[in-house]
Amino acid sequence: MGTSTIAPNAVGNTAVALPGPAVFHVPSAQEERPFIYVNGQMLPKNKAMVSVYDHGLLYGDGVFEGIRVYRGRIFKSKQHMDRLYKCAEAIRMQIPISKDEMVAVQRRCIEMNNLADGYIRLVVSRGYGTLGLDPRKCPVPGVICIADEIHLFPKEMYENGMRVVVANRPKTPIPCLDPRIKSLNYLNNILAKCEAIDFGCHEVVMLNTDGDVTEGSGDNIFMIKDGVVYTTPSDAGILEGITREFVQKTLCPALGLKCIEKNFKLDELLKADEVFLTGSAAEIIAVSQIDQHDGKVITTANHIGKVKGEGPLTKKLRAKFREIVTSDNVPEE
Ligand SMILES: Cc1ncc(COP(=O)(O)O)c(C=O)c1O
Repeated sequence: MGTSTIAPNAVGNTAVALPGPAVFHVPSAQEERPFIYVNGQMLPKNKAMVSVYDHGLLYGDGVFEGIRVYRGRIFKSKQHMDRLYKCAEAIRMQIPISKDEMVAVQRRCIEMNNLADGYIRLVVSRGYGTLGLDPRKCPVPGVICIADEIHLFPKEMYENGMRVVVANRPKTPIPCLDPRIKSLNYLNNILAKCEAIDFGCHEVVMLNTDGDVTEGSGDNIFMIKDGVVYTTPSDAGILEGITREFVQKTLCPALGLKCIEKNFKLDELLKADEVFLTGSAAEIIAVSQIDQHDGKVITTANHIGKVKGEGPLTKKLRAKFREIVTSDNVPEE
């Protein structure tokens, strides 16, 4: 007989040592921050928890947003709210609070945690239900808002550019699960990201099942050729990124650059003068090298463009981006 025991009903019992990770460890004072909004309550980090019957946990059933806070303002708040509610509708889920209330929750989290620059993670899960897929058994979606600091990539990587690898795993096709839905089901992206990790990279370039370039595991992709900026279209199977749109509609026009959406294959990407990625967390980051692998080893290493590190137009776009997000007019619209 083994030493493991079946856990007795925990209610009223003192802790019994059982096999498995002790994730509910005794909290220290530092672990109380930030205060997190969980289903109508502001709770210290170490008390901010959801039910193990939550379908967000059990099935990845839900939607989310990643949002930047610059100078205490919620960058592109309206667009994030529109996308969140549209995605919820796409998975047939009705968010229990209005967009205005959702924004008020975020502002409360920002204030309570004294956050000037940071990141908001909003999660709306299908909520507490039963052990079965049926979403009708989850009467109320759960809402979580975390406002915290973020340091995604080291500063040098923005100047030197990032090395990425082409993922073997294709992007989930639109008819299976539309990548335009920012759902809690991110395994396709996570397993692609694992390919990057296996090869010592931070990101991947994901292709769709037709071999068209789509995006990274958590960011959109752009290339620059002969002074023109290109990005992949929505129907390639991508998340319609809010930073992507900011580059297309604000930054490129501000610099007099033409920005075109078009499908392109890997060959064309490898011949680009510059490549960069965009995302709320990543902001704008140059890609300096694109590797390919045969499943086990790197087979090719393509250096992007003639310039080592961040290309000149990417540098200008990033500088314009920084200028806006560090100004007194951080756009919330
Ligand atoms: C798969 C994917 N693509 C693109 C993006 C970039 O979108 P946004 O600029 O709205 O953050 C994200 C961001 O989380 C993402 O997860």
